[in-house]
Amino acid sequence: MTQDELKALVAQAAADYVKEVVPAGAVLGVGTGSTANLFIDAVAAFKERFSGAVSSSEASTRRLQQHGFQVLDLNEVDEIPVYVDGADEIDASGAMIKGGGGALTREKIVASVAKRFVCIADGSKLVDVMGAFPLPVEVIPMARAAVARQLAAFGGQPRLRMTKEGGIFKTDNGNVILDVAGLKISNPKSMEEAINHMPGVVTVGLFALRGADVLLLGTPEGVKRSDY
Ligand code: 5RP
Repeated sequence: MTQDELKALVAQAAADYVKEVVPAGAVLGVGTGSTANLFIDAVAAFKERFSGAVSSSEASTRRLQQHGFQVLDLNEVDEIPVYVDGADEIDASGAMIKGGGGALTREKIVASVAKRFVCIADGSKLVDVMGAFPLPVEVIPMARAAVARQLAAFGGQPRLRMTKEGGIFKTDNGNVILDVAGLKISNPKSMEEAINHMPGVVTVGLFALRGADVLLLGTPEGVKRSDY
């Protein structure tokens, strides 16, 4: 099976899961990325079940609205029973690297409100030690160089994210992203805390302090579920 087929498999499994566990009339939390897009397409088949969705990016908002979902402002929402999102890497404890699509800050905010974080990923994303995927860090533009020096002192090699056209990539929040290569993340919680404390850092793409509660992993043998 191709990676895209595995993504489609877990996206459908997540839609089935949500149908089973999310009470009718509840608000759905929706992530960002190619796997999350497939989830949006799958869950749209029973969108009437939800009072609306809270989205983690402008791109997911557009896709949700194209399917006729009502997209709600998080400030108007008290409870999100389930948040479904992809990951760039996930380890055996449910800690993740996220932000490959640049939506890490809004993803972390929506995830923090959700009761349950359901991670959907193809099998290649499950790793023993995270760090092969460069760790995204969203930074206030004026702090870019100062934060990059601190991340280098941490043992990483930060690189400013660029667009395909060669411009500086800007997040939905108007900030920049440093992608940090060369890290071996054996203690994700303490690294998340340390990077969070660097002045100018908006969000680090480590989701360890609040990791996944459920992983739906797409493998050639089918979808494997882990609960953390
Ligand atoms: C976006 C993310 C995505 O969830 C992550 O990059 C995985 O993306 P994909 O499903 O396309 O592999 O964190 O900011």
